[in-house]
Amino acid sequence: MEMPSVFKLIPYCISASDSSKLQRMAKEITLLLIQVLRRSVEGIGDQSKGCDGCGFSANTNSVLEGFSIGKRFSCTSKHVGDMNLKTFHTLFVNGKFCKDAKLAKADDFYFSGLHIHKNTSNTFGSTVTPVNVAQIPGLHTLGISMVRIDYAPNGGLNPPHTHPRASEVLVVLEGTLHVGFATSNPDNRLISKVLYPGDVFVFPVGLIHFQYNIGNTYAVAFAGLSSENPGVITIANAVFGSNPSTNADILAKAFNLERKMVKNLQSKF
Ligand SMILES: *[C@@H]1O[C@H](CO)[C@@H](O)[C@H](O)[C@H]1NC(C)=O
Repeated sequence: MEMPSVFKLIPYCISASDSSKLQRMAKEITLLLIQVLRRSVEGIGDQSKGCDGCGFSANTNSVLEGFSIGKRFSCTSKHVGDMNLKTFHTLFVNGKFCKDAKLAKADDFYFSGLHIHKNTSNTFGSTVTPVNVAQIPGLHTLGISMVRIDYAPNGGLNPPHTHPRASEVLVVLEGTLHVGFATSNPDNRLISKVLYPGDVFVFPVGLIHFQYNIGNTYAVAFAGLSSENPGVITIANAVFGSNPSTNADILAKAFNLERKMVKNLQSKF
């Protein structure tokens, strides 16, 4: 089997000037490529996940998290398991494939629509419009992304959540937001502030944070995130809305709640 060079596999995934990252990736890729090839050939890769899963942990610090290989432009969960060695010509990093630089086009680096005011008639009264590697393939491995967030008047809430792979810097364009994050154990200190248009606030990577519209007008904010694939864990959804449900006794004990209250919360998420 002809093994394509690592550098050919990742033409626009990393800039040539970023040599330390390149070297680190090359080393990891070499090690993992062997591991992945072996797994795929043996058919023990995780076939239950699509391109975003690819059978590897999504929460390691490795730049290669979610690393796998598959058919160019057509990775499906099937391909991860059914791959023929001859189809091994695309490298996935952090769950996304790297495109041949020769095939890159302007639209790979483009998104339109962040001027649109989104409908916030939903449970929380807020809508997040993401612009990350899922929307702009050219962001792959660049370590940045952004979102627009619309908030309904009088209580539109972007509920407590965390980004496992990114810090966030948020700027308010319109409205008045009460924002905050809690620090880690043991202090769990709440760092919060009321923001007005032009104000900027930072949410450090991994910490649980929220934004709440305390004004009687719509609010709009934009945020930059330090990952092309920041991930988001909405606390209530992960705890009370897991699929399948987390054992209610566990949650009752963990949150010091009566079991029926847990059941009630679980019915809502
Ligand atoms: C916003 O969404 C709600 C709920 O889906 C819908 O009833 C309403 O018509 C939408 N409003 C606009 C302006 O699209």
